[in-house]
Amino acid sequence: IRRITVPQIASRKGGEPIVSLTSYHAHTAAIVDKYADFILVGDSLGMVMHGMDSTIGVPLDLMIMHGKAVVRGTERALIVVDMPFGTYEESPAVAFRNAAQIMKETGCGAVKLEGGKRMAETIRFLTERGIPVMAHIGLTPQSSHVLGGFKTQGRDEDSWPAHEEDARAVTEAGAFAIVLEGMVEPLAAKITKQVSIPTIGIGASADCDGQILVLEDMLGLNNKPPKFVKVYGDLGNQIENAVKSYAEEVKTRDFPSEAQTYK
Ligand code: KIV
Ligand code: NA
Repeated sequence: IRRITVPQIASRKGGEPIVSLTSYHAHTAAIVDKYADFILVGDSLGMVMHGMDSTIGVPLDLMIMHGKAVVRGTERALIVVDMPFGTYEESPAVAFRNAAQIMKETGCGAVKLEGGKRMAETIRFLTERGIPVMAHIGLTPQSSHVLGGFKTQGRDEDSWPAHEEDARAVTEAGAFAIVLEGMVEPLAAKITKQVSIPTIGIGASADCDGQILVLEDMLGLNNKPPKFVKVYGDLGNQIENAVKSYAEEVKTRDFPSEAQTYK
């Protein structure tokens, strides 16, 4: 394997922070590949790329299509593909069939699925059969209808034991890392200390073993990014300015000029 491997990511526990971003297509993935340890093809692509209201409606073939693009566009980072809602919860066997299809068709190195204790049996089933699994606990968007929206987890200390139990269960089941999403700092810090695998935070403080953000959010393409996003780029405005200039120049016939014309 030429890429960063699953054991290499797992061995970063407590060491140099793990760098990750999402990517959904070859072009941006090639850029992210230079700096990220792993790239997530997240099911947030349903909202970011396809205008859906939530991740609930994302189909398996869409994840596979974008997963293929990201694998083709990269050579260094580990590629992790999200299992979409409805493709793994029913049983370990169903999860294996769909995860295997994702790995075979995309060439990715691991899958991610949402859920803690309740998914432990499935995580064990997959890892024992050759499919590395990244777990995802805390705010789990695929369960937003049960959770009652997108709420930061752990505000009430009474809820901490359940989250700690989730982290413990997925670790014991063989997950190689855990995404902690939307979680108050002291709980994320506590979990990070308690488990032997790296925690990857998104809205879960600097105490995690690594960080991930949705690429388009940090590039400035999202008008209303969540509080936990730091916006590093201004791509929304840059794209608008470019499109506006093009539109003007087409109308004034300044584009195309000599330089773009076959004589
Ligand atoms: O789909 C996604 O982008 C994710 C990250 C937020 C972790 O799951
Ligand atoms: Na996701």
